[in-house]
Amino acid sequence: MKKIIAVDGPAGAGKSTVSKICAAKLGYTYIDTGAMYRAVALKVLQSGKPVDDSLIVDVTRDIRIELDESARVFLDGREVTTQIRTPEVSRAASLVAKVGYVRQKLTELQRQMASRGNVIMDGRDIGTQVLPNADLKIFLTATVAERARRRFDELKAKGHAADLAQIETEITLRDKQDSEREIAPLAQAEDAILLDTTRLTIDEVVAEILRLAGKV
Ligand code: DC
Repeated sequence: MKKIIAVDGPAGAGKSTVSKICAAKLGYTYIDTGAMYRAVALKVLQSGKPVDDSLIVDVTRDIRIELDESARVFLDGREVTTQIRTPEVSRAASLVAKVGYVRQKLTELQRQMASRGNVIMDGRDIGTQVLPNADLKIFLTATVAERARRRFDELKAKGHAADLAQIETEITLRDKQDSEREIAPLAQAEDAILLDTTRLTIDEVVAEILRLAGKV
């Protein structure tokens, strides 16, 4: 039977890392919905115009976002996989994610992508809004300090300049924006299983998700 796994949680909890590994082990497709909000944000920034809701809606109207099997991201036909990972795009993504039109459009696209089944999709509202009937829902968390440390290591490894205290401040702000927005805020679905990854290794989190996936 084809299955759908939803993984939600705040920035830096390890969602994309563990979802990617679980997808490979299960032979599922990995769908990174944060990358889709980031692609919208990049297009908004590339327009060079002052950012407001009407610009965000305009930019989203005819946007084309594609993800391939290797989780590469394409914006209007051009690959933007690395360009969407800068702190500037992270800030803008949190803003575009508040706009109802953007959420509606991306939610539709995400449901279409999941309709093939055997997918693991990560984001903020997958278990609550996008795929409320998912077979397994996981909510991944970790302390702000631990999540900031992970983001810091990730940026450094990619050769970006990084400041740990600043990242911690930004993550706190993004958590607030993501959890307090009116539409589809970051929230744990009632039937999601909570996994606190603060003291767990990646392998331990993957093993636990695979164990849970085996039961559904
Ligand atoms: O997971 P990420 O950092 O790549 O997500 C980028 C932004 O998009 C983040 O501010 C939260 C938002 N987002 C969202 O609102 N809903 C999703 N399903 C995925 C991401």
